[in-house]
Amino acid sequence: MVETIEWTNAGVVMIDQTRLPREKVFVTCRDYKEVAEAIRAMVIRGAPAIGVAAAMGVALGVEKADPANLDAEFTVICDTLAATRPTAVNLFWAIERMKRLYGTLKGRSIAEIRARMREEALEIRLDDIAINEAMGRYGAALVPDGKSVLTHCNAGALATAGYGTALGVIRAAVASGKKIDVFADETRPFLQGARLTAWELQQDGIPVTLITDNMAGHFFKGGRIGCVVVGADRIARNGDTANKIGTYSVAVLAKENGVPFYVAAPVSTLDLTLASGDLIPIEQRPAREVTEVFGVPVAPEGVRVENPAFDVTPARYITAIITERGVAFPPFEESLAKLVLG
Ligand code: MRU
Repeated sequence: MVETIEWTNAGVVMIDQTRLPREKVFVTCRDYKEVAEAIRAMVIRGAPAIGVAAAMGVALGVEKADPANLDAEFTVICDTLAATRPTAVNLFWAIERMKRLYGTLKGRSIAEIRARMREEALEIRLDDIAINEAMGRYGAALVPDGKSVLTHCNAGALATAGYGTALGVIRAAVASGKKIDVFADETRPFLQGARLTAWELQQDGIPVTLITDNMAGHFFKGGRIGCVVVGADRIARNGDTANKIGTYSVAVLAKENGVPFYVAAPVSTLDLTLASGDLIPIEQRPAREVTEVFGVPVAPEGVRVENPAFDVTPARYITAIITERGVAFPPFEESLAKLVLG
């Protein structure tokens, strides 16, 4: 499986997801500003992966900061990383975790502060892989044997520290002996499904069929799809789920065709401070992602464009939410709170 992100002596190394699958190139971010830029430009993307990147960015920032001005620089580092992408709550969760640790290290030597921040970021990365594997174990049981699973965007190893959320569930189902294959929506405009999910599953030898987003209804109607599994960027208290633009349409199609729709996400993707999905901030991306494909114009110059990167699937379309602590079923207000608070 691919190594999405790693801490090295030279800096934070990540696979450049803007260049896959044509080229497998790794970039090294040598300071926190480069990490922030990599998140903003989607060199690294996917909610858990950008959480890990942000934590490593904070640690890298502390590593390079002037010890005489540490508190002020720490605030700027955290604010810069937090300003990169607004929707995935994992980014803010990871920065908050780094802030909490920093707060406990007052009066310690700079060497100790740096070491502890680095260890925390590495722990977040390792935890993420274990969390995905746990989610896979819970989710695999829900996947029907002998059918296709449809997924949207990339919620795989590339979107996490490894293994994946939605693709983790699929990997675990395959590992348990289920005979399944995957329909990957291409996921316009950034093509995470075509470029990343199809590539990732091919690498693992899991059968995958690529379809354009507007083909999903056709295949639901044909009865080949046994369930949908997608990831999430932020889940509100009532279960409303923000995920890649187009997820809502898939959920409506699934319900219309009586196909279960599962969301796989770590507890760090839950935002219980938000009562409903209406309050989730939706990132707006540049128009050229819609008007161009790999730099080639596909629309008339000057056309008005909207490019929301995410949509919100209302909880009523979601059959269950798979987390590392177990599977939550409706009513989500109760089941999610129970998973988080015990
Ligand atoms: O814009 P992206 O590529 O960062 O969006 C990613 C998604 O929407 C994923 O489905 C989500 O982050 C879950 S990843 C495990």
